[in-house]
Amino acid sequence: MSKVTAIGVLTSGGDAPGMNAAVRAVVRTAISMGIKCYGIRRGYNGLIEGDAFEMSVRDVSDIIQRGGTLLYTARSPLFKTEEGINMAVNTCHNLGINGIVVIGGDGSFRGAMDLSKRGIPCIGIPGTIDNDISSTDYTIGFDTAMNTAMDMVDKLRDTAQSHERCSVVEVMGRHAGWLALESGIAVGATAILVPEVQFDIDRDVIAKINATQHSGKKNFIIVVAEGVGSVEKIAKYVEEKTGIESRATILGHVQRGGSPTVRDREMASSMGYYAVKLLSEGASNRVVCYRNGKITDADIFEALNMKKPFDIAKYEMANIISI
Ligand code: ADP
Ligand code: F6P
Repeated sequence: MSKVTAIGVLTSGGDAPGMNAAVRAVVRTAISMGIKCYGIRRGYNGLIEGDAFEMSVRDVSDIIQRGGTLLYTARSPLFKTEEGINMAVNTCHNLGINGIVVIGGDGSFRGAMDLSKRGIPCIGIPGTIDNDISSTDYTIGFDTAMNTAMDMVDKLRDTAQSHERCSVVEVMGRHAGWLALESGIAVGATAILVPEVQFDIDRDVIAKINATQHSGKKNFIIVVAEGVGSVEKIAKYVEEKTGIESRATILGHVQRGGSPTVRDREMASSMGYYAVKLLSEGASNRVVCYRNGKITDADIFEALNMKKPFDIAKYEMANIISI
């Protein structure tokens, strides 16, 4: 096992609250072990361009409470090419980097797998508000995003209540309904629509609104994951079919920002520490996971090939308690 002397840390793909806390933990754990730590700017683009700087323990002061990522993030099409990955490997050789911590989602882990195959040991840390990474029960940023969505929908509820309206709200999640499910439960949504579960708008939304209106409900919240389709169209359809005035709202990127919650700061700190320990022990091509209440790790290839089953039981529970 060759000794790890210098590592790099980068954030990649969509940002998530808590990424800064993870970077802080990576930098400080590495330095405490006598390992140099380079911050790589703009994800894999920084690795390709050699845009990296050696970080000190004080470079990560005052960031644990900040959303976003001080290292910036990017999507790098060039990195997916032979030319791009060769340039990235060269940067590692030039700087003497013999380990990388990649904080991001599935796409970023595919990149980490490619780098590991080229002899640069990589460890992934799951960072995405979508919570859609199969090997882990939790991804950094999810709790903050859920709380942001909840706060905003609570506000929408006030105006929906005053006007006796239906509020159709889009939360983020192009391919994943976890944010919609959890925040939908927390706001007491009448219906939750997600890409993972087939629905019938007349049965699952219109009939539900009619039934709850019959038992005295006067305002309605429908939470829709981004990947499902247009909230404008759904709101129009609800209004046409029920006669209840309806409004559509897209929460958008506000859900990706803000100061991370306790859960995200703690999880990011623990995962950052664990990732550097793995590298120092000679591990490569692993992703840090949170499973059954514990931080653990899995092979990236296996993790990417697993499917995360959607929590249908919870989805059904949400449907029952919203009558
Ligand atoms: P996320 O990590 O949030 O899923 P993306 O899918 O946008 O975000 O991926 C982030 C970056 O990871 C991409 O811009 C690219 O540089 C790298 N990446 C994504 N998919 C692959 C792949 N199949 N092979 C190599 N690198 C990839
Ligand atoms: O993966 C995180 C996420 O916020 C998804 O929920 C959303 O669909 C997507 O990123 C939006 O990405 P962009 O930054 O390209 O708007």
